[in-house]
Amino acid sequence: MASMLQPQIILLKEGTDTSQGKAQVVSNINACTAVADTVRTTLGPCGMDKLIHDDKGGSTISNDGATIMRLLDIIHPAAKILVDIAKSQDSEVGDGTTTVVLLAAEFLKEAKPYIEDGVHPHSLIRSYRTAGHLAIEKVKELAVSIEGKSLEEKKSLLAKCAATTLSSKLIGGEKEFFAPMVVDAVLAIGNDDRLNLIGIKKVPGGTMRDSFLVNGVAFKKTFSYAGFEQQPKKFLNPKILLLNIELELKSEKENAEIRLSDPMQYQSIVDAEWNIIYDKLDKCVKSGAKIVLSRLAIGDLATQYFADRDIFCAGRVAEEDLQRVAAATGGTVQTSVNNVVDEVLGSCEVFEEKQVGNERFNIFSGCPSGQTATIVLRGGADQFIEEAERSLHDAIMIVRRAVKNSTVVPGGGAIDMEVSKYLRQHARTIAGKSQFFVNSFAKALEVIPRQLCDNAGFDATDVLNKLRQKHASGEGANYGVDILTGGIADSLANFVWEPAVVKINAINAATEAACLILSVDETVKNPKSESAQGDAAASAMGGRGRGGAAMRGRGGRGMRRR
Ligand SMILES: Nc1ncnc2c1ncn2[C@@H]1O[C@H](COP(=O)(O)OP(=O)(O)OP(=O)(O)O)[C@@H](O)[C@H]1O
Ligand SMILES: [Mg+2]
Repeated sequence: MASMLQPQIILLKEGTDTSQGKAQVVSNINACTAVADTVRTTLGPCGMDKLIHDDKGGSTISNDGATIMRLLDIIHPAAKILVDIAKSQDSEVGDGTTTVVLLAAEFLKEAKPYIEDGVHPHSLIRSYRTAGHLAIEKVKELAVSIEGKSLEEKKSLLAKCAATTLSSKLIGGEKEFFAPMVVDAVLAIGNDDRLNLIGIKKVPGGTMRDSFLVNGVAFKKTFSYAGFEQQPKKFLNPKILLLNIELELKSEKENAEIRLSDPMQYQSIVDAEWNIIYDKLDKCVKSGAKIVLSRLAIGDLATQYFADRDIFCAGRVAEEDLQRVAAATGGTVQTSVNNVVDEVLGSCEVFEEKQVGNERFNIFSGCPSGQTATIVLRGGADQFIEEAERSLHDAIMIVRRAVKNSTVVPGGGAIDMEVSKYLRQHARTIAGKSQFFVNSFAKALEVIPRQLCDNAGFDATDVLNKLRQKHASGEGANYGVDILTGGIADSLANFVWEPAVVKINAINAATEAACLILSVDETVKNPKSESAQGDAAASAMGGRGRGGAAMRGRGGRGMRRR
């Protein structure tokens, strides 16, 4: 009877679902493992690609961890963290997105038995943080610097890094062709941070080897009017005028009213409009420019006017392309044609309108500031070119990172094995249960070489044993999986190189994510979010769910959360 008299405290809305405790941690770990399983097979040169359909009927073929994670549209709250770290790895270093997801999931998988046995997550988190810190220090120590080399040497070293990144992609077969191209493109933009100075233009058709690098800017021919064909299509050392104004006859405003007392004045009104445009065109011509580009429309009158004076023009040039022309040719975009002085005109060695596949391209090469590059990408299917673009993006980011930090580590799982060995040795010096946790962290690092073997169809146990033995001997620090023979090989000598920052960032992000997921022991879901996300979310939640009715009697524990 006493309980009937007690007032009920309602904390959460009717229908709110909460899951908590050990079971919740384990369920989160399971969800993360499931996510990692989907991208697991894409790792390494022998990794498979994924074909993802979306509800709009589009399909994407990709090997890029971040792209796959993004397209999977994961709704599980804990597993979403893995999507986030993949994305952040993608924007921070560009490559290593599959690695970071695999590492995070493996750290969690190793932690699972301990959680199930009743170890407090915070003991694990503390040890993982220490181990992560030590691992990063070790990677930094093992990294090889490529500083102080001559330009030629540096170029070939950077090409090796680009080739390693490309080798795991669809265009891996052509890595020797694309790697130097990527390096040239990155070196062309120098220290400029703006990635969009490197343009990638996709032109379906032809083979991959028809792709080429323009040391300058290239963009697709824009919409043109009659008279365009009479314009010259090639110039040597032309002056270039960049505009952000319309060169078009304006039609009168609707319902505009003009009262005239003398019919003779009518002609002067019509003439005024023509005079304005002729005045503008005249000023463009007088500037001495041979090429006129505008972000806005260049109409038929202007096109013909320029054609009569042997000037090339293009209107409606995309903002991004115009900016790149400005950066490359040293010109400045003008918003008025009054007072166009010589300094605002750009120049380049050669301008040409060229046929590339089915498209015509405006190509500016030999630009003085040289701060731009454009890769014109050719290939068969659309999905193929799209994936090639994503792969080149990875490679470009990697080369940029390598230029900035100029330290590399051996790939193919070599660095992971060496760090793992170091942590195991370190664990022996730790007293107490933390020793187990650091050991687990070390074991989790082995997932990279193991997965590389699995994906290539090699006997992972056998290769890993060989690797452990080699690394333990003290002189095999650079040995990793040999993807060609299924044995082990010196990755550094075989030029399987990755910038150190890829590994450092991956270990850091994966450790943080694992700790974050381990520290969550309660998920609360309000009915609104449940109805929004549908039943799929509810079933993915797993864990120990408790209905709203159960919550009511729980007393004043915590606040209402959404
Ligand atoms: N020739 C090679 N031999 C052995 N291992 C290689 C070779 N080329 C690349 N690898 C290894 O493959 C792994 C990279 O694989 P992959 O590019 O598929 O994944 P990622 O870089 O983690 O993610 P993503 O490229 O999708 O962002 C690295 O560990 C790298 O050392
Ligand atoms: Mg990669």
